[in-house]
Amino acid sequence: MNEINETLLSAEAIRKTIEVPAHPIKPPITTEEKEALKSRIKKLMREQDAVLVAHYYTDGDIQELAEESGGCVADSLEMARFGTTAKEQTLVVAGVSFMGETSKILNPEKRVLMPDLRATCSLDIGCPADVFGAFCDAHPDHTVVVYANTSAAVKARADWMVTSGIALPIVEHLKAQGEKILWAPDRHLGHYIEKVTGVEMLLWQGSCVVHEEFKSVALERIRRLHPDAAVLVHPESPEHVTDQADVVGSTTKLIEAVATMDQKKFIVATDDGIFWKMKQVAPDKILISAPTAGEGATCESCAHCPWMAMNSLQNIEAMLQNPGPQHEINIDESIRERAMLPIRRMLDFADSHGISGKYQGNA
Ligand code: 13P
Ligand code: SF4
Repeated sequence: MNEINETLLSAEAIRKTIEVPAHPIKPPITTEEKEALKSRIKKLMREQDAVLVAHYYTDGDIQELAEESGGCVADSLEMARFGTTAKEQTLVVAGVSFMGETSKILNPEKRVLMPDLRATCSLDIGCPADVFGAFCDAHPDHTVVVYANTSAAVKARADWMVTSGIALPIVEHLKAQGEKILWAPDRHLGHYIEKVTGVEMLLWQGSCVVHEEFKSVALERIRRLHPDAAVLVHPESPEHVTDQADVVGSTTKLIEAVATMDQKKFIVATDDGIFWKMKQVAPDKILISAPTAGEGATCESCAHCPWMAMNSLQNIEAMLQNPGPQHEINIDESIRERAMLPIRRMLDFADSHGISGKYQGNA
């Protein structure tokens, strides 16, 4: 067996061993309790010169708080950029660990806190830096492009970091330069990029446990029931699902689609945390979750990332009451300095091409 196949098989084996945590149980709270909780958090943030940076997949209450308190709700591209422009000394990142790490890599002088440092991502777990490093070493003639959903150590091996909102133009740019590309870790996103750009890449075999659960046959059935609906798909989904999409794109692109397309109804294949923002920007539209369950369905099939679900208003408050090392992102300085290069390259590219990762319409 050649070296590439061996490495990719080990990536496949790692993927199969990933343990997906159960979703935390979140007891309901009344509107009054929620408002009081948000007020206490805002006060704690003011006292600690902190600002909240939240992803579209977190609970609606968290997204609401981020907006009300002058923070940011965005995709991973804009979350990375926001920290570099925020005046506050502390960034509270509600999302998963790679998002907090990216903030720290770009803002070493700031304190970066996360309510639960165990909130990770199956793509990050499925791409350990040592195995990935060996893969890169075996292909020194390739430009290494990694998805944001990776550890700092993996980014430190990369030439470029991309998010789903900017991957296509960056790969087109590298294609124009005649570069050979090694892509990691998401095999579905990588394959989708190959199809759109016509570029053949060496693909790592990682996947997102949430998006991998969207089912193509069941989607066909739902489309027949709602022929007037547009289908929106995040590109971490399998090929037979993206093939059925009217729009494939980042979380921001999918939100823009709901706000701007003429259709009244949308079938959405991504984490259902995104519905909060979609409903805010297009309250009169009908949103249908793309099917995941079926034979042998598990908790992984509930279209909500179990690691994003580790964020809550309650644990943000608890963290700010006791913001110790158990909440703080720290990265070895030599890794941080090296990992900053591919991220900066992406942000510079985004700036020079006017690419944003935040819904810009009227909220
Ligand atoms: P976006 O950058 O499109 O928000 O995606 C992040 C992510 O983790 C999707 O699963
Ligand atoms: Fe990772 Fe998937 Fe969760 Fe996004 S939804 S953070 S890709 S596990």
